[in-house]
Amino acid sequence: MTTTTSAPTTRWGILATGNIARAFATNLHSVPGAVIAAVGSRSRESAERFVHDLGDEATRAHASYDDLVGDHDVDVVYVASPHSHHLEHARMAFSAGKPVLCEKPLALTRADGEALFDSAGDLFCMEAMWMACHPLIRDLRDRLEAGALGTPRQVHADLGFVVPADASARMWDPELGAGALLDMGIYPLTFARLMLGPFATAVATGVLDDHGIDLDVAVAARHESGAVSALTTSMTATTPRSATVATDQGLLEVPADFHHPAYAVWTPTGGEPQRIEPPSAVYGTGLGNEAAHVQECLRDGLTESPLVPREQTLELLGLMDDLRRQLGVRYAADRPRTPTDG
Ligand SMILES: NC(=O)c1ccc[n+]([C@@H]2O[C@H](COP(=O)([O-])OP(=O)(O)OC[C@H]3O[C@@H](n4cnc5c(N)ncnc54)[C@H](OP(=O)(O)O)[C@@H]3O)[C@@H](O)[C@H]2O)c1
Repeated sequence: MTTTTSAPTTRWGILATGNIARAFATNLHSVPGAVIAAVGSRSRESAERFVHDLGDEATRAHASYDDLVGDHDVDVVYVASPHSHHLEHARMAFSAGKPVLCEKPLALTRADGEALFDSAGDLFCMEAMWMACHPLIRDLRDRLEAGALGTPRQVHADLGFVVPADASARMWDPELGAGALLDMGIYPLTFARLMLGPFATAVATGVLDDHGIDLDVAVAARHESGAVSALTTSMTATTPRSATVATDQGLLEVPADFHHPAYAVWTPTGGEPQRIEPPSAVYGTGLGNEAAHVQECLRDGLTESPLVPREQTLELLGLMDDLRRQLGVRYAADRPRTPTDG
């Protein structure tokens, strides 16, 4: 008799119907055991269009986030609203007893990030830092940690896109967390954190528009390990979107887009370039590997991810608070919290 085994099923609920929600849902199609159970939107029309475009007739379309998080056939909620609303929307899911994968950045400030994790209690919660779940990024980090590529001394990393003023309201609206640093700069910062360890000190300079939105930012940092990093981000220019790690034994190059790379190249000092491929399957564009990781964490009964630990997320939010202070970028969430904020 032939028996087949299939991955246990995880039923996803997608909160919001914007760009990344669509990309994530499409990626779920390639993840073993993933089911897109439901989507929730502020509008019924948008939820129904999302389901139609996805082509999954069994996916339920909810006309409110409340209905989505309250859906008994949803195991985990993916929060894909603007950063300014992550705290509110993650809390809705926790109140309904649902674990959460929450888009990056987890919140606008470290204080709001702490409040979000506090609200999770014993429920699983992870920032959707998909780069850290990518098989090749994991492999490169493991090689560096094992000393296989020598001692890292410098990281250069960049992520930037031209964001047209009429293309993304979110990216140009301070109420929704506008700006390059939190949206794109978080990737170079996290890459440097993954490859070089915790930051010791960082200085930022940049250019803001008339509304105080950070358009172009350069960060120079020293890490506790004694290595340094030079990191840039932009919403006005077509930038390299690549990264390098320079060690005392050679150069590791991660071509565009470095946060979900197809391959990397290691060139030992004086030697020939060696191509490094992802050691295991990349699901979809790599967003699928993040989903697969969450599913594993939930099956293992974890409350936090070993690949994107809560403390690392908070460390980077605190760093971005500091960099924004240096740049002069402020959000409403920067006001001191009061007891009524929860
Ligand atoms: N992992 C990645 O590679 C990646 C890429 C892009 C963005 N992101 C992150 O994902 C989040 C969403 O980004 P996005 O590019 O998908 O944004 P988007 O296209 O503007 O979509 C955001 C969605 O959030 C919902 N929403 C709830 N409250 C809202 C409000 N007050 N104003 C506007 N929209 C609101 C809307 O869905 P409904 O109308 O259905 O309620 C909207 O479609 C951001 O935090 C961003 O940093 C991650």
